[in-house]
Formats: sequence, C-alpha cells, structure tokens
Amino acid sequence: MIAVVNQKGGVGKTTTAVNLAACLAERGHRTLLVDLDPQGNASSAYGVAETTLHIYDALIEKCTLSEVCLDTVIDGLRIATAGPDLVGAEIELVSLENRERRLRTILAPLLESYEYILIDCAPSLGILTLNALTAADSFLVPLQCEYYALEGLARLLQTVDLVRANVNPELAFEGIVLTMVDQRNNLSRQVEAEVREHFGERVFGSRIPRNIRLSEAPSHGLPIILYDAQSRGAVAYRELGSEFLARRGGESRESRETQSEVIGAPSSPQQAQGGRNDDGTP
Ligand SMILES: Nc1ncnc2c1ncn2[C@@H]1O[C@H](COP(=O)(O)OP(=O)(O)OP(=O)(O)O)[C@@H](O)[C@H]1O
Ligand SMILES: [Mg+2]
Repeated sequence: MIAVVNQKGGVGKTTTAVNLAACLAERGHRTLLVDLDPQGNASSAYGVAETTLHIYDALIEKCTLSEVCLDTVIDGLRIATAGPDLVGAEIELVSLENRERRLRTILAPLLESYEYILIDCAPSLGILTLNALTAADSFLVPLQCEYYALEGLARLLQTVDLVRANVNPELAFEGIVLTMVDQRNNLSRQVEAEVREHFGERVFGSRIPRNIRLSEAPSHGLPIILYDAQSRGAVAYRELGSEFLARRGGESRESRETQSEVIGAPSSPQQAQGGRNDDGTP
C-alpha cells in the first residue's frame, strides 16, 4: 500500500496516482486507487465522481469500503471515490478514538484482494493524510522541479518520522518522482540535480515531462494510457510503472527505508556515483 503525498498543492500527486495505478493494472496487477482528497480529482479522472457512496461513508462506518469501490475503464483497477463530504471527516475524525487508524481499519478486509493500493492524498498534512501514512507500507512523493521544491519536503519527512515513531514504524520511503519536468528550463535542470544529489537512488530515474495530453486526459475520464497511448506522458508513466515494479522485485524492503536526516546531509561518493545525470542516464 503506497500513499502518494506532498502537502504542496498541484505538484502532480493525482496525475501520478491515477496513471501509475493504471500502468500497474495494465501489467496484470490487481490494483485499488483510493481517493483521499475532498477535491475528488482522482475520482473525476476516472469519470466516477458522481456516485452516492464515498470513502467518507466508509470512514464513518456508514458502509464498508468494498461497497464504495467501483470498477474503472482499466481491467483490474478499482477505485474508492471521494467527494466534498470528506472535508467534514477532517473535523469529525479528530474526536474519534484511534482517529489516525480509521483508514487502516477499513482497508484491512481488502488487503487480500489487491496487490497494490495507491492512496491519492490531499495537499495537507492533516488527519486524512495522517491516516494514509498510518495505513501505508510506503510513501511516494511527486515533486515538481521548481524553486522551493525541497522546502516543503523537510516538513513532510518530519511528519513521516512522527508517524513512524508513533503508529507505523514500518513506513518506508518508496521514492521521489520528478513531475512536470521541462528539460529546456535551466531552473528545472538545476533543481533536478539538487534533488538527485540529496536523495540519490531514492529519486526514480524515470521522470514525468510536462505534457499537455496529461492535463487533458482527466476531462475525458481516462488515464493517459487510454487517452493517448503514444504521448510522452503515457510513455513516461509506463516507464515509471516498470521501474516501480523492478525496484520492488530487485530490492529488499529494508534497503528502501530511510530517515529524514538525509535532507541536508552531504551526498556520499556512492550516492553521487549511483545518481543520474541531468538527462536521466545512469
Ligand atoms: N506532467 C504534467 N504535464 C502537464 N500537466 C500536468 C502534469 N502533471 C500534472 N499536470 C496538471 O497540473 C495540475 C495539477 O496536477 P495534479 O492534480 O496531479 O496535482 P496534485 O498534486 O494532485 O494537486 P492537488 O494538490 O490540488 O491535489 C492538473 O491540472 C494536472 O492536469
Ligand atoms: Mg490531487
């Protein structure tokens, strides 16, 4: 189970969750996409926002989570939808016992049914995102290559450390995905180099270019691999999917774990060698 998080808005969380989930399902892995954002962007990206039951109803135990899950246009991919009522959960959950464990509890009966569960988080570090980090085995951070990109990351990693210390010691760092990359832009290249220097192999080699087709796809209710399979966006998300699966097959869980101290630490010679050049080549 992977939480897609970054409290910064508009960095490509939903686009990554929606399209990575599609690519995993396309490769035959039973996948569930959980929309945990009151904006419901992941739900509308699959054209299923207008349903009666949402994840909020499962969180307040009005129904089970499996009753909320719907099929999508992709075989093997289901989605638990979110609606604006989820805003209320931020407040209502606060007074409940085990408030940060609610999502984990309602997901538990579904764990056997899916190989991958991706949670699309809202741009906040509120109680909903805490629920995602408490339920998840790992977290994936989409990062837009722009000024201040690293600033919010330190706070996110502090939150992760708190979650590890209090409720979920096993929470692993899945990695950073660079999104909306513009190779012609100097700043984008500089930020990418900096992020790779700090985080070394934790940064996925595949990066997502800025691609207009990616921003058009949601209004058609389709993931990019169905909307325009030949687009650069589709190629990039398929590559990310392959890399994601290869990493999981090829590496032990322990080696993916990290501490937030990595921020600000000078990169080791090993990291520097293992990093990639600006053009993404090893
Ligand atoms: N690689 C890309 N190329 C072009 N447009 C993109 C790309 N990735 C995302 N977008 C567009 O940028 C906007 C923000 O992306 P997205 O919704 O995925 O970010 P988010 O982090 O989920 O936002 P929020 O914090 O509001 O949930 C959307 O309009 C989306 O279509
Ligand atoms: Mg979003």
